[in-house]
Amino acid sequence: MNTNLSSSVPSQLETDCLVVVVLDRSEKDQSEKDKPAPSVECSDAAVREAVKDVISSGEVTGKTFETTLLHRPAGLKAKRLLLVGGGKAKNFSAAELRKLAGAAVRTLKEKSIRSFTFALPENGVAAGIPANDAVRAVVEGAFVGNFDPDYYKSDRKDQKIDALTIVVQGDPKPLESAMQASRIVAESQNFTRDLVNEPSNRMTPTMMAERAKKMAAEVGLTCEAYGADKIRQLKMGAFWGVAQGSDEPPALIVLRYEPEGAAKDVHLGLVGKGVTFDTGGISIKPADGMEKMKYDMAGAATMIGVMRAIALLKPKVKVTAIVCATENMPSGKAQKPGDVQIAMSGKSIEIINTDAEGRLILADGLCYARQLGCTHLVDAATLTGAVVVALGYVNAGIFASDDQMYERFANANKQAGEKMWRLPLDDEYKEIIKSNIADIVNSGGRYGGAISAAMFLKEFAEDTPWIHLDIAGTAWMEEAKPWIAKGPSGIALRSLVEFVRGWSA
Ligand code: BES
Ligand code: MN
Ligand code: ZN
Repeated sequence: MNTNLSSSVPSQLETDCLVVVVLDRSEKDQSEKDKPAPSVECSDAAVREAVKDVISSGEVTGKTFETTLLHRPAGLKAKRLLLVGGGKAKNFSAAELRKLAGAAVRTLKEKSIRSFTFALPENGVAAGIPANDAVRAVVEGAFVGNFDPDYYKSDRKDQKIDALTIVVQGDPKPLESAMQASRIVAESQNFTRDLVNEPSNRMTPTMMAERAKKMAAEVGLTCEAYGADKIRQLKMGAFWGVAQGSDEPPALIVLRYEPEGAAKDVHLGLVGKGVTFDTGGISIKPADGMEKMKYDMAGAATMIGVMRAIALLKPKVKVTAIVCATENMPSGKAQKPGDVQIAMSGKSIEIINTDAEGRLILADGLCYARQLGCTHLVDAATLTGAVVVALGYVNAGIFASDDQMYERFANANKQAGEKMWRLPLDDEYKEIIKSNIADIVNSGGRYGGAISAAMFLKEFAEDTPWIHLDIAGTAWMEEAKPWIAKGPSGIALRSLVEFVRGWSA
């Protein structure tokens, strides 16, 4: 999708469709049953005149994601005018705007429209959103909305928007770099979504390594991929314990970004869970819904996508991504409940449930990141069903061992407009992962399952400041939303890219 900025008067723009936001400026809550007060967020008198009748008719209320399409609007050069509702004016933010841009794309592309113009809302509350943030939100939202995962359908229509113009007030020049940067971020998010969408027969650990290498060559990153020999040689007993059960070779993928002028004392380590298919192993999962376990590599795909964005945005900070990729299979070679594995760090782990495999491979990934000299660690993983019980499909879980690092991440997360919620890591929870015969167990049972998994990882992050993102409930959209297709969401990528950029010297 081409993107450009324009400072033309909206009514004077020749475009297939002009998109304008409508907000509801009524004060009270819906529950108090006051009448909506729709307000067209465009100061161009010709646009306001063109929508006067449809607004006064009461057909347009400004309700979130309400869309109204007018053809040949009087007094406008645009062929069509699309009004998108943005909800209550007092609740409007860049995060809402991002979704509206996605909703506009999805509404228009379905109608075979290929290009459109989005007028940034510019009055009242919307004027409180800095122009930079607004441009960013619209570009990111539009790219996310433009993605559809119907790659393998033979009658795929491939309806996509080709060109987006954003109308801004005043000189567009200073907004150009925000637009380019957000394009990179959004394209990287869609790159990640493509990886996650692949089924396990088309995204084996070896294939994931190949995709990472290809991307690395394109953007100028170093990428190494190691197999079973190196994993055993590094004494990654926890990682190997999972990988040994599969005929498909595992891959340890390392992506390095080391720019000139980076601070000497900061080295960020990004660790991703890359289980390309999770059957559960000997503690096998029920058949119902097992097909979804192809997305158990979403954490890995996220970190690979983050590295793509970083390589193109060039912040001055050293970053290394470590991806542990393997299948989790039952077989004659598979590890069994009761087995004891010795992790790379030397800690012994009693395997209670072979389906708690993510924490095993991440244990060695985190340890390796520390060995490579990382000063701060972040991991992303579709780690537990328990996080879905706790936070549903809305928020991803954040765990942090260090409050300062958490603050940085929370700020980046807010900027990125992704929903995440912090969960605790109190020492009391350590009880749950005690073992009778080894240092720790890999499964602490049902209660507080997302937390005990995080406590397990903490044993391997040790004293290095660390953040763990459990994206099991958010990496896959169970249903389509107005702004995003059903399928891989690309969650956490934008927050992570923003977080990394925040360390730039
Ligand atoms: N990959 C799953 C977690 C998961 C669940 C991801 C639902 C996406 C959607 C993970 O490997 C797993 O199986 N976790 C177990 C842990 C348990 C055995 C302690 C779980 O959550 O049931
Ligand atoms: Mn599992
Ligand atoms: Zn898993």
